[in-house]
Amino acid sequence: MSANYIPKSFIESLVAAINIVDLIGSRVELKKAGKDYKGLCPFHNEKTPSFIVSETKGFYHCFGCGAHGTPISFLMEHDNLDFVTAIKFLAQKVGMEVPLNDNANLKKENEQTALLEEITKIYESQLNQSLEAKHYLTKRGINEKSIKKFRIGYSPDSWNFLSSPKLLKLFSEKKLEDAGLIVKNEKGNIYDRFRGRIIFPIKSSSNKIIAFGGRNIDKELPKYINSPETITFNKSDCLYGLSETYEARNKNATMFLCEGYLDVISLAQSGIMPSVATLGTALTESHIKHIIQRTPKVVFCFDGDEAGKKASLRTIDIVLGFAGGLTEFSFLFLPKGQDPDSIVQAKGKDHFLELSKKSIPLSELMIKIACPEMKNNNAESKSKSISVALTYIQKMRNELYKDAFITDLADHLKIDKDLVINASKGSSKTFKAMPDNGQSKPSENLFIREAISILVQFPKLANKEIPLDALSKIQAPGASLFVMVLRYIRTADSDITTSMIIEHFRDDDLGKHISKLISDYVFDDDLIAEKILEDIIKKLSFHGSRSSLAESLTKKFKKL
Ligand code: CTP
Ligand code: MN
Repeated sequence: MSANYIPKSFIESLVAAINIVDLIGSRVELKKAGKDYKGLCPFHNEKTPSFIVSETKGFYHCFGCGAHGTPISFLMEHDNLDFVTAIKFLAQKVGMEVPLNDNANLKKENEQTALLEEITKIYESQLNQSLEAKHYLTKRGINEKSIKKFRIGYSPDSWNFLSSPKLLKLFSEKKLEDAGLIVKNEKGNIYDRFRGRIIFPIKSSSNKIIAFGGRNIDKELPKYINSPETITFNKSDCLYGLSETYEARNKNATMFLCEGYLDVISLAQSGIMPSVATLGTALTESHIKHIIQRTPKVVFCFDGDEAGKKASLRTIDIVLGFAGGLTEFSFLFLPKGQDPDSIVQAKGKDHFLELSKKSIPLSELMIKIACPEMKNNNAESKSKSISVALTYIQKMRNELYKDAFITDLADHLKIDKDLVINASKGSSKTFKAMPDNGQSKPSENLFIREAISILVQFPKLANKEIPLDALSKIQAPGASLFVMVLRYIRTADSDITTSMIIEHFRDDDLGKHISKLISDYVFDDDLIAEKILEDIIKKLSFHGSRSSLAESLTKKFKKL
């Protein structure tokens, strides 16, 4: 059983049901001290107790060594259990059964992909019956072989083709609705999502149909519609064409990433493979992960216009963290107004491959962007170039790549390499903070950290009047986490506890981060915490600085 399959709601009710004082008290001798319990820390050697357990927060914290966490993390650290075993242990203790959701989910996913497979067959046969649809594909230069390979189909121009009594009986209304194929309007009437459209089945990397894209063939707008996100379809993790055009035995081939269904199909038809496309969304890290597992080189194809340039900038930010690995990233800017489909259909394979030789490697593109004008090779332009380049350098995770890039940059600007290295060290210190891209003053960041900490320790304060809209607009590091935590607490049960919140955010390490914040700013008294939170929010809303009253109060309570 993988951790992902234990529902969050279960974990939250489990930590709520556990008495942390009993749990830790059976392993560490605890004595009541005010509202909390105190004992000798089991995680480091000490003679006077600095290990505090809070029954109401469901949280422990050591002022000596900084150990801290929820009942689950206590068991993981103290009893050396893994996450799932710790949960099983706790569940048994309070007589709860860990739901084995993995089987249920898997079954539902399999049922849905089986349904989509059946519908694909129906749409494929409908294509054969529609002269108009076939004519459209011929006009676009798509041949029979490609139609079969990509399983292209047609959804008849009817509001109730799938949602006809006959097919509803065969497939069930609920299942068709869950799969995003039929839609229910406010009056409760159902109708087909895809009407009069060329259907492009979208496959997962494991070769199962998980969704559809549909293109109009007349003037009906929009040009494209896709299935909504469902249990089988997560757009940001999906690359169209991957399973149709990638073959493991061809694993040294260059991959082309384009924008659309027809780009992928036309490239593949002319023998340019593997070719894939995102589904109308920006490239994500999970797309990149699919790519780097499969190819030594990927060429991103962009339109030569402004939109293409913007998209390439976003792509750089995403791929930088993977640069220097086994996959080389390259950027191809096509002539304005053209895409891989139009080029390969009009001028053929060799012309496209010739063009693709002009693709620019990632490192060269970054230097081009950072150092646009070498005519004015003066101090101003050089320092401007360095500061742009630094924003890239900070995102590089591979040290060798970073070093090689810095060498290239220094050569290009004719400056000493150490200058760039020192600048990069300085800037990473100032920008360290929290995982956010804020450009605010460092002092704001501290307030927000403290505010998050207070909110998690006293979730009831989330019901106070907080100008969420104003706060959402703040660019400061941590602001988005604050808003996320606040939103979550507001939608959760009213008796939510600190440890439930931490466990909710366990994924992506956010839980760890929040848990650390709590141990950095421990509050004992809810009235004072409330006062400080109020103060911080007031100041943040005005982008001002913190009042000395609140500051001295914090200092006082940090010492406790
Ligand atoms: N796309 C999408 N959802 C939309 C719009 C676009 O998924 N609402 C995706 C599709 O994969 C589509 C691609 O973006 O193939 C490109 O769309 P567009 O720029 O409109 O394509 P064109 O090249 O103009 O048209 P065609 O696909 O007919 O070549
Ligand atoms: Mn196109």
